[in-house]
Amino acid sequence: MSNHIIWHSHPVDQETRSAQKSQRPLVIWFTGLSASGKSTIAGALEQILTSQGYHTYLLDGDNVRHGLCNDLSFSNTDRQENIRRVGEVAKLMTDAGLITLAAFISPFQADRRLARKILPEGQFIEVFVDAPLDVCRERDPKGLYAKADRGEIKQFTGIDSPYEIPEKPEIHIHAEQLSVAQAVNQLLAYLHETEVLHAG
Ligand code: ADX
Repeated sequence: MSNHIIWHSHPVDQETRSAQKSQRPLVIWFTGLSASGKSTIAGALEQILTSQGYHTYLLDGDNVRHGLCNDLSFSNTDRQENIRRVGEVAKLMTDAGLITLAAFISPFQADRRLARKILPEGQFIEVFVDAPLDVCRERDPKGLYAKADRGEIKQFTGIDSPYEIPEKPEIHIHAEQLSVAQAVNQLLAYLHETEVLHAG
């Protein structure tokens, strides 16, 4: 970055924006294999939060790769750049006072750590959506595992590209044992316990 760029502080800040929305802004970051259920669970949680009056935005891997990140492949360095960009966008969204949900495979520990680090302390909640590879392969809603098996897709996570299991996620969802509603309840319980959400 150039030394000649100086941060400009504006009169309206995160506190003002979140106070206006009567909520604590934060990022809820879902990581896990393709077809583990990240997007579905994040979408269902967002639906409940908005119905309760919270202001939210869901950043979804497949959707973001249609626009902001449509120049990126699935190489390790491009995945790293994908997560860096999304981390920065999530930071801007929390600065806007939003509860931001991010659903990305985000296979590398270091990239997830970086996304956490750029946010103010306590504003990043990592959710490991843990479904065994066999279960994801079996579900295969987009037929991508079958394509990867046939060699039609390279660098597919869990096949020929690694997934580093989160060491200390705030929430560990055993996705193959729970319904979507149960997973959402687990998340809501955590958000209430930690007083991220207001009571009632
Ligand atoms: S990440 O690794 O960079 O975090 P991201 O979450 O944005 O991945 O995108 C993952 C989605 O892209 C998957 O859900 C799947 O639908 C699709 N996809 C296409 N090619 C691949 C691949 N090689 N590896 C993993 N997912 C892929």
